[in-house]
Amino acid sequence: MGNNTFTLRNDQTGESWSFPVVSGTQGPPAIDIRSLFAKTGHLTLDPGFTSTASCRSAITFIDGERGVLRYRGYDIRELAERAGFLEVAFALLYGDLPDLGQKREFEKNIIYHTLVHEQIHTFFRGFRRDAHPMAVMCGVVGALSAFYHDSLDIWDPRQREISAHRLIAKIPTLAAMSLKYMRGQPFIYPRNDLGYAENFLHMCFATPAEPYRPSAALVRAMDKILILHADHEQNASTSTVRLAGSSHANPFACIASGIASLWGPAHGGANQAVLEMLEQIGHKDNIPRFLEKAKAKDDPFRLMGFGHRVYKNYDPRAAVLKSSCDAVLDELGVDDPMLELARELERIALEDDYFISRQLFPNVDFYSGIILRAMGFPVEMFTVLFAVARTVGWISQWKEMIEEPDHRIGRPRQVYTGSGYRSVLPLARR
Ligand code: CMC
Repeated sequence: MGNNTFTLRNDQTGESWSFPVVSGTQGPPAIDIRSLFAKTGHLTLDPGFTSTASCRSAITFIDGERGVLRYRGYDIRELAERAGFLEVAFALLYGDLPDLGQKREFEKNIIYHTLVHEQIHTFFRGFRRDAHPMAVMCGVVGALSAFYHDSLDIWDPRQREISAHRLIAKIPTLAAMSLKYMRGQPFIYPRNDLGYAENFLHMCFATPAEPYRPSAALVRAMDKILILHADHEQNASTSTVRLAGSSHANPFACIASGIASLWGPAHGGANQAVLEMLEQIGHKDNIPRFLEKAKAKDDPFRLMGFGHRVYKNYDPRAAVLKSSCDAVLDELGVDDPMLELARELERIALEDDYFISRQLFPNVDFYSGIILRAMGFPVEMFTVLFAVARTVGWISQWKEMIEEPDHRIGRPRQVYTGSGYRSVLPLARR
């Protein structure tokens, strides 16, 4: 490897080719292989993208070896302590934390869009009451493009911005409606005199029958959870949003595709799966049996909330949530035996060679469910809350991609392993 080129040699023919090396401001350098096929006639094969950077991005930085996560250069721990979710949303969208004037203006813009079109209420009623709220969210968020035609021109910067504001403003309203619908309770309209997290809690837990006022600790905990989940560079759902957006699909459709991708238990669906797993384990005496299952090659069971493609160290988001757990449960007066069980499971797993040698640590989903349950959310809502927070990351990444002058449609190639040419025989001879 030269200073800024990388040379590839074909051992069979002796031919060699040079490729530029691209360096970011931080993180490993990348070999720019865009001309590889044209020069060599070869493709690269990287299922799961373990060695492939799909884009350049200035939004989020992760150093998985050191357990570092930064949005726009700001450390996640500092953001969780010192900023509010809408300030973080502003930074993700526009590049820097806002000053006081920008903060007020942004809050005003978001608040302006918290209501959803009244006909969306009718749309909700088409779903079964026992539908999973993530199934409902895939549908209703996709349907926003059928309601907000005036912000669908992705080449108009102002329309892009309005769509981004609409999505950030309306996603908590829709998420709360999906909870209310599941519970058979009336929808609660947003209250624009409340902050983002408090308004969300209000729409989730208020009823017309009695007043509802969450404690300041509950509001702060919600805000922190939103901050911790707001972005995570090119994970599966964000890559899905970018890929959908690369075909110039509208932003509402792109975010719906992100929600679908997030739902899987290997990704955002893990927070629900962790709670279900803890319930299944039931008692600390059963931990060794479940760890054996997680380690067995022929058993599909995995320790949910453990392991990460990028973090080979403690996930910094899990560290913040773990330390918040006690405080939040204390404040809410909840004594959840699941917290004790989770701590014990973590302790035993982190002393086990299998987990040590594979660098498997708790991830963000390991402790979040315990807090969300203490706050009163049913498990089915956990991934929906993840989607509420991640919407700001998705839309910031989508906006960054559309504003990149040389972005192209995402179109991976393949190594074909199917049959060669076969003639189509008449039915009687097949
Ligand atoms: N329990 C048991 N073994 C595991 C686990 C786990 N949770 N995670 C990874 N391994 C093993 C895996 O079997 C493999 O072992 P071997 O080398 O012997 O074949 C090794 O560790 C490497 O695993 P991998 O599947 O190649 O790793 P990956 O980077 O493809 O997968 C992951 C990452 C997050 C999908 C995986 O760790 C996992 O399934 N974890 C449980 C689900 C989970 O908690 N997901 C949330 C991720 S963080 C939030 C988010 O992204 O939304």
